[in-house]
Amino acid sequence: MANQNKTVVIVGTQWGDEGKGKITDFFAGDSAYVVRFQGGNNAGHTIIANGETYKLHLIPSGVIYNKPTSIIGNGVVIDPKALLDEIQMLKNRGINPNILVSDRAHVIFPYHIALDDALTVHQGGLAAGSTKRGIAPVYADKMFRNGIRMVDLLEPDILREKLIISYSFAHVLIERALGGTFSVPFEEIFNNYVNYGKQLEPYISDTSVVLYDAYKNSENILFEGAQGMSLDVDHGIYPHTTSSNTLAGNISNGSGVTFRKIDRIIGITKAYVSRVGQSPFPTELGKKEATELRKKGGEFGTTTGRPRRVGWLDLVQLRQSVRVNGLTEIALTKLDILTGFEHLPVCVGYDINGKTITEMPASLTMYRDAKPIYKNLSGWNELDESALEKGYNYLPDSLRKYIDFIEQRVACPVKIISIGPQRHETILR
Ligand code: GDP
Ligand code: IMO
Ligand code: MG
Repeated sequence: MANQNKTVVIVGTQWGDEGKGKITDFFAGDSAYVVRFQGGNNAGHTIIANGETYKLHLIPSGVIYNKPTSIIGNGVVIDPKALLDEIQMLKNRGINPNILVSDRAHVIFPYHIALDDALTVHQGGLAAGSTKRGIAPVYADKMFRNGIRMVDLLEPDILREKLIISYSFAHVLIERALGGTFSVPFEEIFNNYVNYGKQLEPYISDTSVVLYDAYKNSENILFEGAQGMSLDVDHGIYPHTTSSNTLAGNISNGSGVTFRKIDRIIGITKAYVSRVGQSPFPTELGKKEATELRKKGGEFGTTTGRPRRVGWLDLVQLRQSVRVNGLTEIALTKLDILTGFEHLPVCVGYDINGKTITEMPASLTMYRDAKPIYKNLSGWNELDESALEKGYNYLPDSLRKYIDFIEQRVACPVKIISIGPQRHETILR
């Protein structure tokens, strides 16, 4: 397939749920390693292959094949119970995952989840609407240098020493600062986590060295991002973001592999946009239209089941994604869902108090006031499935014009076209 001896990075260009799992799986068959480098089980990646559907949260989307080793890098935050459950789920389905987990990855504890809840209440209108998986608190603990890493689960003495600090800190925060409650006893957590460590020990290793050797030996390495550019803690719509860098550049920090030689950076882009959680969303559809598109596109959270807010494609967002990720190409997904619309509005700029803005503003006030400026493109009535065999030119004219328009406006080629959720429903151009 398409990525011989290459380092390929897959990232989301919008608010997540663009189809990263599907496209990662599409490329993973030829990879020696598939690597997650940020985020945690806030992610939900769906793969449909050979008639089977898999929903993955922590394990990279190459695991369905036998060949690639799945690596959970140091930049990922790990809920060990969620990881053990996911391994078990795969085993129950006949897959014995070949996984390595970084010894340096930070660990999510029950108090992080309680803190996530309490913080969301405290932040009110400025909250992001988190997945309640403890993501912000565990990354905060990492930066406070209060964090506990996978390696610590293998050393009960150091685990106890660190847990005393981390547990008491979280306890005070939850109960005294945020008015919440947290009643899980220290010893219960300690014993559970020692036990998780014992079960995960075979997987825990220095994945940075493993990847360095693979890189030197010119093996194919595929990186799978979670979330998307507008959720990036630096470049997204802060504070309505997640707590990691979701961009391609973060593969180095999050896995220990140099960014000097990345062959392809593929930005997964849904042909419309969706958003689970809270933030300004300039192209959001009104209630009636949204209900239709949500239903047609099956837009309900893979992780939380929450209905996703939906809207038209936003090229201000996509152009920034091309720039800050250094995308070499775009994979455009879910084009099949847009079949049947007479007109397809595409947002080419924002009107903010009478001024036309074409770059994502840092100012939250401006974002809240942003009204989309649309260019109306023609839709298509039918999608001939034969394009899957015969190729790109068999797609409807107006669909190809939709793609041409996007390419021209964001200055990045669309090289992968996805017209269905299954592995084979993918056209290379
Ligand atoms: P991820 O988080 O980026 O991996 O995306 P999710 O798996 O959360 O959500 C994407 C959803 O769209 C999943 O249900 C996929 O099976 C589905 N999907 C991916 N690509 C396509 C496509 O081209 N067409 C259709 N109809 N569904 C798709
Ligand atoms: P994948 O990888 C969509 C959103 C949450 C919330 C914000 C912060 O499947 O694309 P967090 O729990 O990270 O503190 O939540 O980010 N969010 C996602 N939205 N897809 C995801 O992952 C997401 N991961 C987090 O809804 O608004
Ligand atoms: Mg998802």
